Amino acid sequence: MKRWNILLINGPNLQLLGRREPEIYGRVTLAEIVENVRREAAGLNADIADFQTNWEGAMVDRIGAAMDDGTDGIIINPAAFTHTSVAVRDALAAVKIPAVEVHLSRVDAREPFRQVRLTTPVCIGVIAGFGAYGYQLALRALIEHLEPSQISGGSRAERSEI
Ligand code: DQA
Repeated sequence: MKRWNILLINGPNLQLLGRREPEIYGRVTLAEIVENVRREAAGLNADIADFQTNWEGAMVDRIGAAMDDGTDGIIINPAAFTHTSVAVRDALAAVKIPAVEVHLSRVDAREPFRQVRLTTPVCIGVIAGFGAYGYQLALRALIEHLEPSQISGGSRAERSEI
């Protein structure tokens, strides 16, 4: 049975989770999120490499490197770069590794500037509004995409494009 190599990427300010606007983002820390995803991964035959950065170029570099390091799938919360970064979007499109986007908050129900989402269309899907638990949902969705089972009727979601 194949073991899946999953890359978990978190963007700017997410290192502050737990203390950052807890009324919006909750009280779970990033370390706890990574631990929870790893625990979930253990039961799904997956290994997690995790990476957090506040730097756009570092995020672009890490996504590009995933093309050559055996990464099978990406879980990404690009945070503010979701709304601003053509470079992150292009990196995800370039590597063609299935990616699931996660947001702790329901970005679609927030401020107008968050309604522009450049990265979302190059991901196979997006999970938003379920707080820290969204990362575990994203992992399940990604593994289901990589290894379609009876749950999805054996079908594989396609990446959507604008
Ligand atoms: C976020 C939503 C973004 O709009 C925001 O810039 C973040 C976090 C979320 O997880 O809800 O930093 O990605």
